[in-house]
Amino acid sequence: MKVAVNLRVLRFDPEVDKAPHWESYALEMDDGDRVLDALHEVRWHHDGTLAFRRSCAHGVCGSDAMVVNGRNRLACILLIRDVGPDITVEPMRGLPVVKDLVVDMSTFFEQYRSVQPWLKADPPPPGSRERLQSPEERARFDDTTKCILCAACTTSCPVFWTNEQFVGPAAIVNAHRFVFDSRDQAKSERLAGLGGRDGAWGCRTAFNCTEACPRHIKVTQAIEEVRRETLRGGD
Ligand code: SF4
Ligand code: FES
Repeated sequence: MKVAVNLRVLRFDPEVDKAPHWESYALEMDDGDRVLDALHEVRWHHDGTLAFRRSCAHGVCGSDAMVVNGRNRLACILLIRDVGPDITVEPMRGLPVVKDLVVDMSTFFEQYRSVQPWLKADPPPPGSRERLQSPEERARFDDTTKCILCAACTTSCPVFWTNEQFVGPAAIVNAHRFVFDSRDQAKSERLAGLGGRDGAWGCRTAFNCTEACPRHIKVTQAIEEVRRETLRGGD
């Protein structure tokens, strides 16, 4: 079904603008189109200068997270029929705007790297080329393997907005993935970096992160589990 869409986009080009400003586009879309399709419609037929990121267009790469009608969403999996014909789109909050809907993700990826998100297990198990793990051991961290690093959780977190030292939900989710991996040998080292108010203890349990996550990861629960594990010190 065709629908008249009023798409409002917060535009900002630091090379020419002093401050962000809203621009509106009257579009005719199918109600089964995604918000990403509406942004493409603007870029291809109304204003080719509109800047936004996208890659996979299928909810897998995490590159098109943005604030749609006040909530962090992936534009590529959000249907127009689900959000309504009046749509406002803004860049994610708490990260510097490069242009329009494109934010500088450097801080976010620094936080991600700070938890050393790779398996630390050395040397290899004697007589085997595999590191064996039971289905139950694998299931322990299954939820947090689903992260696509979209930053929707971290940029919806009020603690992240106010404490720039706070590592943020996404980094803790990715620490969880290794802290609870039975093959990893660096649990104490990982947990040492996550104690205190700049780590898992900075969380104020606002649940914004869990609500924002497009992969339906139980982000707040993962943070709580890491927090409890810091008390045990990795034993
Ligand atoms: S936990 Fe969810 S919201 Fe956060 S970065 Fe990963 S996929 Fe995105
Ligand atoms: S474009 Fe890849 S998740 Fe949306």
